[in-house]
Amino acid sequence: MTESIRFLMCAPDHYDVDYVINPWMEGNIHKSTRDRAVEQWQKLYHIIKDNATVDLVTPAKGWPDMVFTANAGLVLDNKAIVSRFFHKERQGEEPHFKEWFEDNGFAVYELPKDLPFEGAGDALLDREGRWLWAGYGFRSELDSHPYLAKWLDIEVISLRLIDDRFYHLDTCFCPLAGGYLLYYPDAFDFYSNKTIEMRVPPEKRIAIEEADAVNFACNAVNVNSTVIMNKASESLQKRLADAGFSVIQTPLTEFLKAGGASKCLTLRVTEPRIEEAHANVPVESRVIQLKGHLLDAGIMNQALDLIVEGGGSFQVIDFNLGEQRQSTSAARVRVSAPSHEVMEDIFSQLIDLGAIAPPEQVCDAITETVTLAGVAPDDFYVTTIYPTEVRVNNNWVAVQNQRMDGAIVVSGDGTEARCCILRDVQVGDRVVVGVDGIRTNRKVENREQLNKQEFSFMGAGVSSERRVELVVEQIAWELRQIRDRGGKVVITAGPVVIHTGGAKHLSRLIRDGYVQALLGGNAIAVHDIEQALMGTSLGVDMQRGVPVRGGHRHHLKVINSIRRYGSIAEAVKQGFLTKGVMYECVKNNVPFSLAGSIRDDGPLPDTRMDLIQAQTEYSKLIEGAEMILMLSTMLHSIGVGNMTPAGVKMVCVDINPAVVTKLSDRGSVESVGVVTDVGLFLSLLVQQLDRLTSPYPVSQSV
Ligand SMILES: NC(=O)c1ccc[n+]([C@@H]2O[C@H](COP(=O)([O-])OP(=O)(O)OC[C@H]3O[C@@H](n4cnc5c(N)ncnc54)[C@H](O)[C@@H]3O)[C@@H](O)[C@H]2O)c1
Repeated sequence: MTESIRFLMCAPDHYDVDYVINPWMEGNIHKSTRDRAVEQWQKLYHIIKDNATVDLVTPAKGWPDMVFTANAGLVLDNKAIVSRFFHKERQGEEPHFKEWFEDNGFAVYELPKDLPFEGAGDALLDREGRWLWAGYGFRSELDSHPYLAKWLDIEVISLRLIDDRFYHLDTCFCPLAGGYLLYYPDAFDFYSNKTIEMRVPPEKRIAIEEADAVNFACNAVNVNSTVIMNKASESLQKRLADAGFSVIQTPLTEFLKAGGASKCLTLRVTEPRIEEAHANVPVESRVIQLKGHLLDAGIMNQALDLIVEGGGSFQVIDFNLGEQRQSTSAARVRVSAPSHEVMEDIFSQLIDLGAIAPPEQVCDAITETVTLAGVAPDDFYVTTIYPTEVRVNNNWVAVQNQRMDGAIVVSGDGTEARCCILRDVQVGDRVVVGVDGIRTNRKVENREQLNKQEFSFMGAGVSSERRVELVVEQIAWELRQIRDRGGKVVITAGPVVIHTGGAKHLSRLIRDGYVQALLGGNAIAVHDIEQALMGTSLGVDMQRGVPVRGGHRHHLKVINSIRRYGSIAEAVKQGFLTKGVMYECVKNNVPFSLAGSIRDDGPLPDTRMDLIQAQTEYSKLIEGAEMILMLSTMLHSIGVGNMTPAGVKMVCVDINPAVVTKLSDRGSVESVGVVTDVGLFLSLLVQQLDRLTSPYPVSQSV
């Protein structure tokens, strides 16, 4: 026995599962057996006593979880930081533990009232004394970590827990003597695992599987070379033995019902400072401001969710709620992240939501010079679809050519900025890096404005079949308005448009001036021309809906013919192609671009097999568009979506709801998804346009 090592325990006099504050407690209310709990606790008590000294704190009636003394606080040397429990069900334990620490000569530190930290449940000293591992994500707040570092004068390494079964760090992480670590990697996020791997060499990491983890193998008490736990598989026992540890198993099933085992039932109160460590905590905090219809438009929820999902934590400093329907709200939120890297990730997403730094913290954007053509600096800011400004020489400069997934290049004199795709950045270009001095302008509507929007009732939503007609009415109205004012509508379409009998309707739209550019692949053109020349689409007779003998070769014959003419336009000019979608484009001077793909037959002479050239053509044709109709092509629609700035109405029609959701989920109110057959959609659209009165006569479908 090592007398100098002391543990604090609390007898289970009042222990029971009285409430549910973790997944282990669910279904276990009052299911633990008092006698068995006492017996299991006694066994553990004697095992610990054989290896160290045990102090006892008097159990308090009404606080059943006081038995889990690991959550009393965190001890280092003669200092004790008392816990601030997250759940009110445990907050009543705080004064009892505080009293014990004071009575036993500890200098007691207390965190601010609203800053949860659950003691040694979420803070574990490296057994070599080099640093403190601190967990957050469920019970303890990340913002408590800088206090631990300051008060205990030690480096704090923050780890984010992501599996609610392992809600405290000590349920899935156990530093052992000799620098070993017993842990369950799946309980941590990617960044935390990276951090653990950087700190603990592979030969010292004992990563366990889920089967051991759910037996609380990591919730172990380590005294020198002894490890005391509820249960370990044979393979885990062997791995621990190979590392020089002997395992004592003692059943603690009654306490597992409340989500705790041997480590939770003990608090090591002798934690001498081993190494001369000093305060250091990479936790970073920044304040952001959000303004607008924060509640109506859901911006506040989105912002807080992305902070937490991104691995950070937040504190709302103030929230001024607009009192009238039309008034805007404003909030200041303190964001904390476990490292600079995570903070930059979170911050760049907050910028996309329209967040800005408070005035006193606004600074110029940082730029780095490109040294290799086509390669941006590592930390370049990735653009979104939203209008963006960068601050250069104390001035906010609007970014030109806005599109998503680009870099921002600032001109030499700092008066201009533009979006640039990676392959176009040139040596010497100044590219914006990091997240400082960047703001985006989200067109956030209030509830009333949202309701007035033509597409509002589905705002960024997906329609069901019965709503299709209603959507079509609205789209028809928009199309008519855009055409009448000389605006631009672009269509991207896949071959399904032809297979579903939509060719005649799309041809009508082109002929009647509703379409100013057509984007697609080889297939839409091939099948359209096949239908125009041979009456089939992929060998299926379009009138009768049955395959034609030898029809599977039709499309190749068609490709061959167009190749003979050299281009679709030439085939039209020479009277070979006399109807269909491509014919109407040529006849009505509607520019089109066909982008190639690996599966293309032929291809047609017009199909751009050089994809960089195709992308350039696409983005030129999209310029100035007010509306883009995306008709049953996932490939081309995604390509188009990536090039299109916010403010352009996008209507995505597809039979597959998942595709529609993916394409219309741009976080913008201008996107509309319509789940339906594209042939039916086009037919309804043309009918609706016919119904609308117009200064222009509407010709008949052919
Ligand atoms: N012969 C050829 O050369 C040939 C043939 C086929 C495709 N391709 C090429 O392959 C690439 C991808 O083709 P894609 O755009 O057709 O495929 P895609 O998978 O990107 O998109 C097809 C979409 O149509 C949807 N869809 C299917 N039936 C529908 C219906 N009845 N109504 C509405 N939506 C429906 C699907 O859910 C899917 O999302 C394109 O570049 C295309 O040109 C070439």
